[in-house]
Amino acid sequence: MSSDVSSPYSRKKPFPAVHTVNRLLSGPGSAKETRHHEISLASSGLAYEVGDSLGVFASNEPRLVEEILNVLGASGEEGFVGADGVSKPSREALLRDLIITTPSKEFLALLVSRAGSQVADLAALTSDPARKKELDAYLWGREIIDFLIQHRELGLSLEEVMKSLRKLQPRLYSIASSQKAVGEAVHLTIATVRYESFGRGRQGVASTFLADRASESEAVPVFVHTAKHFRLPEDPATPVIMVGPGTGVAPFRAFLQERQAVGATGKSWLFFGEQRRSTDFLYESELKAMTDAGALTRLDVAFSRDQAEKVYVQHRMRDASKELFAWLEEGAHFFVCGDGARMAKDVDTELHAIVCREAGCSPEQAAEYVEALKKAKRYKKDVY
Ligand SMILES: Cc1cc2nc3c(=O)[nH]c(=O)nc-3n(C[C@H](O)[C@H](O)[C@H](O)COP(=O)(O)OP(=O)(O)OC[C@H]3O[C@@H](n4cnc5c(N)ncnc54)[C@H](O)[C@@H]3O)c2cc1C
Ligand SMILES: NC(=O)c1ccc[n+]([C@@H]2O[C@H](COP(=O)([O-])OP(=O)(O)OC[C@H]3O[C@@H](n4cnc5c(N)ncnc54)[C@H](OP(=O)(O)O)[C@@H]3O)[C@@H](O)[C@H]2O)c1
Repeated sequence: MSSDVSSPYSRKKPFPAVHTVNRLLSGPGSAKETRHHEISLASSGLAYEVGDSLGVFASNEPRLVEEILNVLGASGEEGFVGADGVSKPSREALLRDLIITTPSKEFLALLVSRAGSQVADLAALTSDPARKKELDAYLWGREIIDFLIQHRELGLSLEEVMKSLRKLQPRLYSIASSQKAVGEAVHLTIATVRYESFGRGRQGVASTFLADRASESEAVPVFVHTAKHFRLPEDPATPVIMVGPGTGVAPFRAFLQERQAVGATGKSWLFFGEQRRSTDFLYESELKAMTDAGALTRLDVAFSRDQAEKVYVQHRMRDASKELFAWLEEGAHFFVCGDGARMAKDVDTELHAIVCREAGCSPEQAAEYVEALKKAKRYKKDVY
């Protein structure tokens, strides 16, 4: 959903934006590649509020497209009629319209139907819905190109393969800026996805599109995705507690810019975590400047790999248990952003433990307390 009715641009009609800044945030020697990106919204009429995300329609990696065409013995000039009924060269469709990394159900079904007993394991996994987890584990790190190379002898045609592929979807990124501070621009904080599996280097589609391929000359199709559930409190005097390890810091940079721009009087507290202080303290100087300026009241950091034992944001919350509960009692809103698979669950568990400890109540009463925060829209998450 687009937040701006006055703009002609939306998810259905994305704005061809110019990518103006692409800066590495991770320091030399970091295990991560987290980047600060800036995208111009000039002349789009698009507006966003802090807490919103930006939708990005990325294109696939050209080298992978060429490899797929090559293994299928195709030139790339063959016409392909997409779901919209429009015919275009297959190279173009593989580049912009189709998922060419993760195998679709239809692609696996095509493979099973043509390869028979050669893929007996895969056939067994795909035919039994109860074995979905095993199938996911089997597919982890395997891409379409691996199957095409391994089963080259099947002579799959370009057309049947392309028909089995699904539509490439946009990726969402938390907006890391406030328009009150940056005007017609949007800032993003993106961890570039690169990994190796089965002897090949792999690339996340959108994060590497922005890191490697988008430039001032190649437009980035974007739209604003509103997040009404993830808004600063209306009253700028209300305290906020923000838990944002890794790229989860992005919306909180936006919140702080916004609060600084409007001269909010409410206290703000950020928990940030990353692997190492020397290489991964994202926006360190900005956060310190905001602290000095009084826009950020308190900054607690957890660098997980700077000592033998892991230290995570929830451990810092525990260290500050008393003060954190006091802020909640004063009416603070509690925000969490970043990894949803593990971090947000562990932070939630710690929040319950803090309430138990500080209020001297039972786990059931703590659950009621946290539930009441949620009902009052004072506990907000944007996790992925
Ligand atoms: C509301 C929202 C906000 C978000 N905000 C941000 C943000 O601010 N910053 C940010 O960086 N991301 C953010 N994300 C995540 C972002 O949308 C993308 O999912 C992320 O950038 C990966 O996209 P990609 O196209 O680069 O990778 P994809 O092409 O989607 O590839 C990622 C996939 O690769 C596979 N994979 C990854 N690592 C491995 C491995 N080691 N081994 C095997 N397989 C692996 C997994 O299947 C994974 O799902 C947000 C998501 C949502 C929903
Ligand atoms: N699905 C998953 O298993 C998974 C896990 C992590 C990240 N991701 C995804 O990877 C992308 C980028 O992540 P990111 O670069 O923003 O940072 P991140 O990988 O989330 O890491 C940021 C910091 O959080 C720490 N961390 C790891 N597990 C944690 C936990 N359970 N509780 C609290 N902190 C924890 C990390 O420590 P260590 O690295 O030292 O453990 C690191 O210091 C996101 O899309 C995220 O969803 C997925």
